[in-house]
Amino acid sequence: MSEPLMATYNRLPVTFARGEGVWLWDTGGKRYFDALSGIGVCGLGHAHPAVQQALCEQAASLVHTSNLYRIGAQEILGETLTALAGMDKVFFCNSGAEANEAAIKIARLHAHNRGIERPAVLVTESSFHGRTLATLSATGNRRVQAGFEPLVQGFVRVPYDDLEAVETAAANRSNIAAALVEPIQGEGGINIPADDYLNRLRELCDGYGWLLMVDEVQTGMGRTGHLFSYQGNGIRPDVVTLAKGLGNGFPIGACLAQGPAARVLVPGTHGTTFGGSPLACRVAQTVIEILRRERLWDHASAMGEHLLAGFEQRLGGIEGVTEIRGRGLMIGIELDRPCGELVAQALEAGLLINVTAERVVRLLPPLILEQTEADLLVEQLSRLILGFLRAHPDLAASGS
Ligand SMILES: Cc1ncc(COP(=O)(O)O)c(C=O)c1O
Repeated sequence: MSEPLMATYNRLPVTFARGEGVWLWDTGGKRYFDALSGIGVCGLGHAHPAVQQALCEQAASLVHTSNLYRIGAQEILGETLTALAGMDKVFFCNSGAEANEAAIKIARLHAHNRGIERPAVLVTESSFHGRTLATLSATGNRRVQAGFEPLVQGFVRVPYDDLEAVETAAANRSNIAAALVEPIQGEGGINIPADDYLNRLRELCDGYGWLLMVDEVQTGMGRTGHLFSYQGNGIRPDVVTLAKGLGNGFPIGACLAQGPAARVLVPGTHGTTFGGSPLACRVAQTVIEILRRERLWDHASAMGEHLLAGFEQRLGGIEGVTEIRGRGLMIGIELDRPCGELVAQALEAGLLINVTAERVVRLLPPLILEQTEADLLVEQLSRLILGFLRAHPDLAASGS
């Protein structure tokens, strides 16, 4: 059936035919609650009418030209995004991995320009930055890297949320030029650092002359209760990467920068055929306008608190539930046992969830989630988790 496709994914046995808001319907007509939004992509939900209109109108006039020429929609989106993010400049690409590639290239070129011959980027354990060779090398997960050696050199890894380790790395290595971190680790298990982690990292980067590069691919675009998660810390990174929610499903990524980092890339140093096309930029501009008009980051914050309170009430203190945590609509329910099979059980029950880091049920519902839908999610998922825990006492505290 799917034989022509490379076996990159263990796909679930379902094909979706259409969507609306938080709902998806499969080809047989069964309805599903999408609590994952295509892994944090469709923040405005499926088939948003304004996104649909922007796509159709733009497709009817101009889809692609080239970065050989000026692109009006790219300039407009660039103005909007840099102003909102407090950045000076932006480079548009097509995915999160590409946005991080651009960031890593900026860090290296910036360092070379300052006479550091073999610069390194400080990265963290359990991080995820993408699947290209440089970004998988930056990623703190051996499974992502295994088999692809030799890895790209020039990364120094420290535990996440550990500033002492950053100081030790700085003391031992004079070639570190930048730090690349997620404000909350998504793939790594919805790991939320200390409230002032980014603030103190900013201070350390300033002290050492490093660029602070924040990977907002998953946390950005309103997901965690701010348009960009770092805004909750009141800091300004040097480089910010975005993708996922920026196009609500239309592929677009962005690498933003301010200060000296914004002036590093010059003609001939970087580029892309597709990045920042009229179509991609028109869609992203529409997504941002809706996010702003409806202040969906505030809504995400309120709905996130509602969900956390609901899950706490239904699952808090239950044996087998280790922690319920989240910020905005980026939520993790950690169990004391591997729980990957919950994904298929939820699918059967008409609910789309994800399990990451083996034991963490990850929820990234659309930001437009309404309270009644949130209540439904709490009810349905809590029932599934309780049933799973009852059925699998044997898995408790088994190997990771
Ligand atoms: C924090 C983070 N960075 C980068 C990426 C890679 O993005 P993409 O899959 O669009 O290349 C992801 C994807 O999950 C991510 O969560």
